[in-house]
Amino acid sequence: MNLYRAPKAIAIVISLVLLAPLAEVAVADALELRIRADQPGETISRYLYGQFAENLGRGIYEGIWVGDDSDIPNTRGFRNDVIAALERLHIPVIRWPGGCFADEYQWRDGIGPRDERPVRINKSWGWVEDDNAFGTHEFLELVEILGSDAYIAGNIGSGSPHEMAYWLEYMTEDKDSSLARLRRENGRDEPWRIAFFGIGNESWGCGGSMTPDFYAHVYKRYATFLKAPADNQPKRIASGGFDGDTVWTDTLSTAVARSIGSFFGMDGISHHFYTFPSGSFFGKGSATGFPEREWISTLANALTVDDHIAANAAVLEKNDPDGKIGIYLDEWGTWYDRDEDSDASLLWQQNTIRDALVAALHFNIFHRHADRLHMANIAQTVNVLQAMVLTEDRKILLTPTYHAFEMYVPFQDSTFVPVEYEQMPEYGLGDVSVPHVSATSAMSPDGDLIVALVNLHAGDSIDVSASILGFEAAGATGRVLTGAAIDAHNTFDDQAVVAPVPLDVRLGRGEISSSLPPRSVSVITLRR
Ligand code: AHR
Repeated sequence: MNLYRAPKAIAIVISLVLLAPLAEVAVADALELRIRADQPGETISRYLYGQFAENLGRGIYEGIWVGDDSDIPNTRGFRNDVIAALERLHIPVIRWPGGCFADEYQWRDGIGPRDERPVRINKSWGWVEDDNAFGTHEFLELVEILGSDAYIAGNIGSGSPHEMAYWLEYMTEDKDSSLARLRRENGRDEPWRIAFFGIGNESWGCGGSMTPDFYAHVYKRYATFLKAPADNQPKRIASGGFDGDTVWTDTLSTAVARSIGSFFGMDGISHHFYTFPSGSFFGKGSATGFPEREWISTLANALTVDDHIAANAAVLEKNDPDGKIGIYLDEWGTWYDRDEDSDASLLWQQNTIRDALVAALHFNIFHRHADRLHMANIAQTVNVLQAMVLTEDRKILLTPTYHAFEMYVPFQDSTFVPVEYEQMPEYGLGDVSVPHVSATSAMSPDGDLIVALVNLHAGDSIDVSASILGFEAAGATGRVLTGAAIDAHNTFDDQAVVAPVPLDVRLGRGEISSSLPPRSVSVITLRR
């Protein structure tokens, strides 16, 4: 997170404001698009739809894990309602245990009989007692239940190379080592597959307050000893920069990558990008009850993730022209000031239609960077920051962000299709303006052409027509997510305030058209 990020988006859009009339004067624009299915591009990796679930607040405990003696319906301790909801998102990868928590976590605390595990204080978040009931076995069982891949974030801040190496051996070794035996005694015979291993988290801050040069040496030291059987080698992810920073990417992709011998490798560099309505970590803005100027500034700030990915991709293009090192945007999402009733250190926040738009705008941008962006993980899955699900004891609700993720499932492992237009109408307020519409398209693995359209305007609908090149559609269906107000959100008693409904799509000869309501995310599926 960048504690001092200036409202850059405001500066970026000033030039646009000079060119375009502000939509405050209620311009009834129409938009014409061209969907170039005749020019398919990169694969949009399913890993761009990843999740981050830290041991923080009620994210794991209550949110996912209630224990098998709980009154809340559960299966072996995992709450049934949350698991059923998450299954529908086809989550490709989950990152755990942190976040900042990763660099204080001792993996041995979380194995063995639960009633014998030590109670620690979570000194990263909330200073709460943690009985370690959710540890390595529980996380990897969660990953298996959801059909996801595991992304373990290792502890380099307060742990040793030895401890990290032994953790990986415990999880992956098939031979009869003492650690593999211990895993078997603890109930898991087969090794787990660990797809990704992060070497530290935010090592510039909560992960150890290191400089990029210092971290580069630390990375090499830890990575040298991080060994797994040849057929179960995780990809290794270095801890990188945040927001607009490119220094970490530059340092790591030179200092580490150039010295790569046979001992270790670096498959990716982590990057974090959070969206604050104000553009600053201090005085971020509210999750609900905000004015329209915070609606548009939030969307404008979210759009700048494009610049941050592009800047880091350009550095990698220079230092790693063969494209071996990926960007892992393994924390992203909105971050608001705490709710009056909630504890600041637990990072619980409400989630509105604005969050759904922020998510969809990120997806649309991610698709355009599919060559260098190898993974993205929203922060976080349940009850923390821009969550998919909120819980309150026995009750749960699906957030607007959940619905955005669910609507975009067909984009996982699809093939990018360019979307062109001559002129994009602008939506502006005060000195901020953003495009009226954000669009993306892809060929799904099932052979459907998918088009997603975000109408960023707080108050105006827009008519969109799109000519389709290189795809003959026999049918078109659509779904739209919107809300009656800019902070519309679901509650535990009313789940249908913000939920997808059918979108009216007209299919003509080689073209589709529709009217997008204000504040909306739409996904259209065209079938041959
Ligand atoms: O997601 C919350 C926190 O944000 C994470 O623990 C940390 O990595 C980041 O600063």
